[in-house]
Amino acid sequence: MKKEIAKARAYANIAIAKYWGKRDESVNLPIFDSLAFNVADLYSETTARWVDEGEDSLTIDNWSVPPSLMGRTLRILDAIRHEKSWSKRCILESTNNFPRATGLASSSSGSAAMALAASWAAGLDLSESELSVLARLGSGSAARSIPGGWTRMSAGSDPLGSDAFAHSIAPADHWDLSVFVVKISTLPKAVSSTEAMRTCVKSPFWEAYVEASQEMAKRVEVAVLRRDFPSFAKLCHESCLMLHALSLSAGICYFEPESIAILQRVLRQSTAIPVCCTLDAGANVVILCERMVRPFMLNDIMGMGLDYVETRVGGGAELIKC
Ligand code: DP6
Repeated sequence: MKKEIAKARAYANIAIAKYWGKRDESVNLPIFDSLAFNVADLYSETTARWVDEGEDSLTIDNWSVPPSLMGRTLRILDAIRHEKSWSKRCILESTNNFPRATGLASSSSGSAAMALAASWAAGLDLSESELSVLARLGSGSAARSIPGGWTRMSAGSDPLGSDAFAHSIAPADHWDLSVFVVKISTLPKAVSSTEAMRTCVKSPFWEAYVEASQEMAKRVEVAVLRRDFPSFAKLCHESCLMLHALSLSAGICYFEPESIAILQRVLRQSTAIPVCCTLDAGANVVILCERMVRPFMLNDIMGMGLDYVETRVGGGAELIKC
């Protein structure tokens, strides 16, 4: 049996201007632009092997994903099959170096690594934007794990999503920030982002949320390009708190008590020093600060007695040796 094989690595990304809400759920088309950075030390590695017979399969950290949960993966594989006009099956093996489904964006790195490995193994040499579109089929945020550094995802306007992809606005070394990922929970989140986005549409604050989020990515982009930390921190908190306020109003709470404690602490600190924090759809908190206050923040975080990873802004998806 002839086998085509490739292995890719992609880094998780954490949004500063959040993606939350879809104009088409079937292909993860966002309502508004979002902006994120890749995390240098949190990644997924995926090996893809196309075979002539059998079934598509996916294992994540040695867990065999049941057929009922293969929908997102099949969107990526079907798009490749369509492009190739073939009916081969794909065997995917994926590993994460951090806990899955805890709000640390494992779906972003996982889908991005899968899109790159599976398309390359199929003999397709896709452009960065084509790969970003392909990754988006697995998870909206995954589109941002294809380019490197700071990435902006365009919501686009094409009903098919040909213009809904991410591009890099600045490379990983553009801004020397320290990043601390504080691990509060390693348990999978109770409500998936997909489900929560569906529910949030019913919040009485939904329309106001969408309106307030329209320009957020553009504003964050300006702050990142100018390395303007005060503006960056303000927008970072605004986008994060709006998402969680909206979620709470729809009956969804991602916080654990420790998340609130850190949030409160960092919000206070941010009035005096260059630090800010954000939470995606989970309890874990990501703290960013300027290099000069790193020793202070490190001490502070260590004093909390919680598990953390110190990292920095990372690069884009890449092929690695099998
Ligand atoms: C809070 O990309 O996980 O992390 O497209 O349904 O897979 P699906 O959602 P997903 O949502 C990410 C939501 C977020 C914010 C963000 O990453 O921008």
